[in-house]
Amino acid sequence: MTLTAWVNGQFLPLEEATVHIEDRGFQFADGVYEVIACFGGTFLDVKAHLQRLEQSCQAIDVVLPLSLNELQSLIEQTYQRNPYSDAMLYIQITRGAAPRSHLVKNRLTPTIVITSRELPIPTDEKLSEGVNAITLTDIRWKRCDIKSIALLASVMGKQEANRRGADETFWLDEHEHVLEGCATNCFAVIDGKLVTHPLDHQVLGGITRNMALQVAREQHIVVEERRWKLNESGLSECMMSSTTNAIMPVCHINDDSIGDGKPGPIAILLRKEILNRFEALKNSELKL
Ligand SMILES: Cc1ncc(COP(=O)(O)O)c(C=O)c1O
Repeated sequence: MTLTAWVNGQFLPLEEATVHIEDRGFQFADGVYEVIACFGGTFLDVKAHLQRLEQSCQAIDVVLPLSLNELQSLIEQTYQRNPYSDAMLYIQITRGAAPRSHLVKNRLTPTIVITSRELPIPTDEKLSEGVNAITLTDIRWKRCDIKSIALLASVMGKQEANRRGADETFWLDEHEHVLEGCATNCFAVIDGKLVTHPLDHQVLGGITRNMALQVAREQHIVVEERRWKLNESGLSECMMSSTTNAIMPVCHINDDSIGDGKPGPIAILLRKEILNRFEALKNSELKL
């Protein structure tokens, strides 16, 4: 099956979609990205993702050569040219290609790549058992609020989790507060309240994080955005959120069970409510 990518101004078969070896994304990881889910032709929170992409570009001083509406249209066209009904659309933007030098004196034409992949559906086992995580001291940079393509630390964290039979690594700050995962935001239920690290330079402002907090409030669950630790008394559940996971209960961390080692009621409720929203999108009138 031939997949189609948008790369620098044209749609191409994936095998022919290439960027220059002097692209600064390749040379320096000098770029940002976004991942947007599409359910049966309706995009989830597309405006929020585009806004975050624009913020990431602004943070690294890359000026997008097209408007967010034009970009959205290209994302939709990429979706339509690929075979997946439920898809995740990757948008990668780099500063552009230039002879290798840290400093760029002139504005370059940014490289824009858009691809569509099948949205992975978590297996039943993962849903009923929850997933496992490990913790590692955060080795990433100090601007985790930028959705940077420089993901080496996250790759290392994921590899280490996999090596230890786990699905995700929760990054800890030097005082052992839980920050976020390699590709997820992290939450705990402590004394019945949903707790997650506040938005700052140490975490990405996850679109799903935002949705989870909104859903929790609608369900009359008290939300606390504060620093938290795994050894706090009253901690009964952990979970993680991302575009591709929705809410996923995390039931074991570093071989310790969280609560009774089974998905807890708040994780189950939030997941159900969020999946209902996804389902509603599939049946939405707004289909492409
Ligand atoms: C470091 C990090 N935190 C959180 C998230 C979750 O963000 P979102 O819910 O917008 O997918 C991601 C997603 O890739 C991520 O890479």
